[in-house]
Amino acid sequence: MKIYLLFFIIFVVISNCLAEQDSPRILHGLFSDSDQTHVCYGSLNIDTSQFNITNSLNINDVGNPKNIKYPLLPLTYDPNNDVIYMAAPNNESKTILSVINATSGNLISTFKSISNTIISLQFDIFQKQLFAHIETVNENVTLLAEIDTNNGNIKEVLGTIQDSKPTHMSSYCPICRKYFLMMIEDQQFVYVGVNTSNQGGVDWKAKINYSPISMKFDYKTFTMYTTYINVTERVVSSIGILNRTLGGISKVVGILSEDPELIVTSLSAFDIGEKIFYASIQLSWPHYEGISYVDVDTSQADRILLTKTQYNSYGWFVKQFVH
Ligand SMILES: *[C@@H]1O[C@H](CO)[C@@H](O)[C@H](O)[C@H]1NC(C)=O
Ligand SMILES: *[C@@H]1O[C@H](CO)[C@@H](O)[C@H](O)[C@H]1NC(C)=O
Ligand SMILES: *[C@@H]1O[C@H](CO)[C@@H](O)[C@H](O)[C@H]1NC(C)=O
Ligand SMILES: *[C@@H]1O[C@H](CO)[C@@H](O)[C@H](O)[C@H]1NC(C)=O
Ligand SMILES: *[C@@H]1O[C@H](CO)[C@@H](O)[C@H](O)[C@H]1NC(C)=O
Ligand SMILES: *[C@@H]1O[C@H](CO)[C@@H](O)[C@H](O)[C@H]1NC(C)=O
Ligand SMILES: *[C@@H]1O[C@H](CO)[C@@H](O)[C@H](O)[C@H]1NC(C)=O
Repeated sequence: MKIYLLFFIIFVVISNCLAEQDSPRILHGLFSDSDQTHVCYGSLNIDTSQFNITNSLNINDVGNPKNIKYPLLPLTYDPNNDVIYMAAPNNESKTILSVINATSGNLISTFKSISNTIISLQFDIFQKQLFAHIETVNENVTLLAEIDTNNGNIKEVLGTIQDSKPTHMSSYCPICRKYFLMMIEDQQFVYVGVNTSNQGGVDWKAKINYSPISMKFDYKTFTMYTTYINVTERVVSSIGILNRTLGGISKVVGILSEDPELIVTSLSAFDIGEKIFYASIQLSWPHYEGISYVDVDTSQADRILLTKTQYNSYGWFVKQFVH
């Protein structure tokens, strides 16, 4: 008996050690609950479907993510200072750029210095610079600019993008120092790269032959992952690799949904350490949010539906600093 007990204890100890080696899958971000006057900051554990809300912020201070003009809340994470930047309109439609402590969720500062809508935000983790894609007063003319994090002012305009309708889709490469954008020209999607080094400049524009839902750049492998609906199998939502030269998907990486009731939304996150792409999904009836996630190396896919939660997601990021 005793020897069995000993083996059992050893087994438990070993399996606990193994379990601890698997890093938990956690997405940090901003969420909504039933209180319409506040925005919740916290995290979601994918393995347990548990939310951990650490603070709630007043929409009169940080703006209301419900009133954003584009489908995705501009949000970016700075791992050097452990803060996030977000942009949302206040009740007078004025853009508020907020700096939020990414541990406590406390509001550090807000800026109202950008008069036009901020479409997306990207933080360069190595150069420690904040960039924004901003509307101008002219339709189909947008700016890519560096934002001074001390006062929220435009520090330098790096590129003006003409004759293109902006979309919420963007990503960033801190090694090549490029801001990637998805735009629309003559009803067609155009993939744009803007330099953030030297004098800036629109480096290239490439027409693409599919309709993207979201995109995330992996700067460790120089791969742009993108989600889309397969045009031949309309119910299938996939994740693939965008090849600019080809102007489309060069490799299908995995399937996010094969169910017409499960809609893949534009909200996504990428864990560059674990190589997991997270995409938000919505079940149309009954209405539930969920997450489909794919290991981009093995194509292994998994999914959770959050049927018991009072929270909805506004924005996600993975808290990491991968060199
Ligand atoms: C919730 O988040 C806080 C702040 O990040 C952390 O200290 C705490 O351990 C978390 N709790 C759980 C149950 O994960
Ligand atoms: C609008 O926001 C201001 C603070 O910026 C607040 O004092 C005011 O009550 C808000 N108005 C409404 C209608 O919520
Ligand atoms: C963020 O909050 C944590 C926990 O309260 C604190 O230790 C840290 O100094 C804060 N960081 C900033 C940049 O305010
Ligand atoms: C802006 O671009 C969109 C998409 O190409 C086009 O439909 C629209 O007419 C353009 N508007 C102006 C004012 O050029
Ligand atoms: C953008 O930067 C690359 C080098 O990273 C350079 O070759 C290219 O000429 C630059 N483009 C513009 C428009 O300045
Ligand atoms: C679309 O689906 C078809 C049939 O399943 C498949 O052969 C094709 O590779 C898919 N295309 C993309 C771009 O996902
Ligand atoms: C991208 O597409 C071009 C043109 O088809 C091809 O030559 C190139 O090898 C592709 N690159 C990758 C990384 O698949």
